[in-house]
Amino acid sequence: MDMQTALIRLKAWFDDYVEQFASNDPRIQENMDMKEGHTRRVCAAILDIGASLNLSTEELCTAEATAWLHDIGRFEQYTRYGTFMDHRSEDHAALGVRVVRETRILERIGAFDQELILRVVGAHNRAAIPPEADERTRFFLKLLRDADKVDIWHVVTAYYQDPEQRRNHALELDLPDSPDISKPVYEALMKGELVKMADLKTVNDFKLLQMGWIYDVNFPRTFQIVREKGYLEIIRDALSVRSAPSTDVYARARAYLDRRCPDNRAVEVRNKGIRVVVVKKAGVERKVDDI
Ligand SMILES: [Fe+2]
Repeated sequence: MDMQTALIRLKAWFDDYVEQFASNDPRIQENMDMKEGHTRRVCAAILDIGASLNLSTEELCTAEATAWLHDIGRFEQYTRYGTFMDHRSEDHAALGVRVVRETRILERIGAFDQELILRVVGAHNRAAIPPEADERTRFFLKLLRDADKVDIWHVVTAYYQDPEQRRNHALELDLPDSPDISKPVYEALMKGELVKMADLKTVNDFKLLQMGWIYDVNFPRTFQIVREKGYLEIIRDALSVRSAPSTDVYARARAYLDRRCPDNRAVEVRNKGIRVVVVKKAGVERKVDDI
């Protein structure tokens, strides 16, 4: 079976698998729908980012397969424990690996490199890419982590922008909405590091943690999406306080994004073996040697 046909079988299996968790309880069903929608959008995002990298059809199919399966453990997790919080239940990535093995879906389809996909699914939610991962695993993990972030940004910014939205404690981790920004959160972000979940004390901390995901983005297209959608600005505007620390954190994140985000109209030319990039911006042409 070629990979494109295999992918069609995998999608059909995903639909059937998710259907098993359908519930008459609207609260449960809402959470199932949320994860199903997330999975579909991560698939779209991974194809978008993958297309920007000129991947082969097989590589794109492999990337998409990781996206379909990355949160497959969420359905059993919520049904069994009533929460998506791993520390109150179990690691949803490890649970997903178990689901794929127990259902033998990839073995039955046969076209994919099951062990590669399971390594990617199993590590997609780690704080960082495992240092022992081989190059191919690292690459697909980076793609999945970027695509996953793109959709989490989409979800949280839609929530922040919707005034009708009732408060969703799952999206705020049950943290108090006090105006403070914690010192370890500020310090990590000003060093360009990710915020540790253990350092979160307020909703503002959590919003800034989401802004700080920019420091864990891997591919130019992902930076471009963040800039186009204005995710950093939406999160900044959603803070319940505008203070010197929050302004600093935003300014640093935005400067990093601008450095890493290629201009749409950047044209690469070769000049005597030295890479020179001509950037046309607002009608002004300037040369930069590093973007
Ligand atoms: Fe996940």
